[in-house]
Amino acid sequence: MTSALTLTRTTIGQKVVVAVTGLILFGFVIGHFLGNLILFVGPEAFIDYGWTLKHNPPLLWGTRITLLVAVVTHIGLTMSLARRNASARPSRYKKAREDQVTSYAARTMVISGPLLAGYILFHIAHFTAPGLAFGGAEFDHVNIYANVVSSFNVWWVAAIYVFANAMLGLHLFHGAWSALQSVGAQHPRYDSIRRNLAIGLAVMVAGGNMMIPLAVRGGLVGDAEQLRAAAEHAEELRAEAGMLTGDHDDVSGEELE
Ligand code: HEM
Repeated sequence: MTSALTLTRTTIGQKVVVAVTGLILFGFVIGHFLGNLILFVGPEAFIDYGWTLKHNPPLLWGTRITLLVAVVTHIGLTMSLARRNASARPSRYKKAREDQVTSYAARTMVISGPLLAGYILFHIAHFTAPGLAFGGAEFDHVNIYANVVSSFNVWWVAAIYVFANAMLGLHLFHGAWSALQSVGAQHPRYDSIRRNLAIGLAVMVAGGNMMIPLAVRGGLVGDAEQLRAAAEHAEELRAEAGMLTGDHDDVSGEELE
């Protein structure tokens, strides 16, 4: 415990903890991105995916608690490092710093970070608790397919997700670039590999996530037949679990949250 506290007091220790928590968050983002792609398999598969996660309390709560600790630590230490950097750097170095070859992503880290934090709060309120209904459909804790489709049928909700995932891409690009540097891949010879790897990861995750609102808006997923199949499947699951059918807001929601 004492050594963990000492670690977070030194700059290098803080950087290590920021990198490790960043890696944990990155792991979640990759896992969640792969889960989101199940939407393209079909409504039943996507609903089953959400249902399985929610009916596995150790996995659900283990992930939620780990994420909460990781996100709070990551943001807290990043802010502390930024303050330390600002106060340690005399103003005469300011010009030299501006001249440094810092990427666009690095300079926008301070903007993409808070925007992402805001997006995550909105996103949890939207799809988890309390669950926000957009596009005229009722929010349904079991039928997550309908929640996604009806939301993204509203252009500005889709636009928020596309924009937020562009921010995520920038943030991941710089995060992966710095993390690879911290683990020693900073020789100029490795620069292009490091850069390509960071770009590849960021484009894959952000681009893959963006495909979902764009596919809904383009009519590739979420037609009337798929929505009907989704509603039927959600009712079947509810019936199997002995939940009241059609009462989306109370019984199913409370039991699943
Ligand atoms: C277009 C992109 C995304 C879509 C379609 C999407 C979809 C969803 C859905 C449907 C849920 C609720 C799952 C359920 O109730 O079973 C959810 C939960 C969540 N998502 Fe996303 N997501 C996206 C991007 C992201 C990103 C980029 C992050 C983080 C940076 C994120 C973080 C979370 C978190 C923390 C939860 C709450 C998990 C819980 O219940 O504890 N999502 N997402």
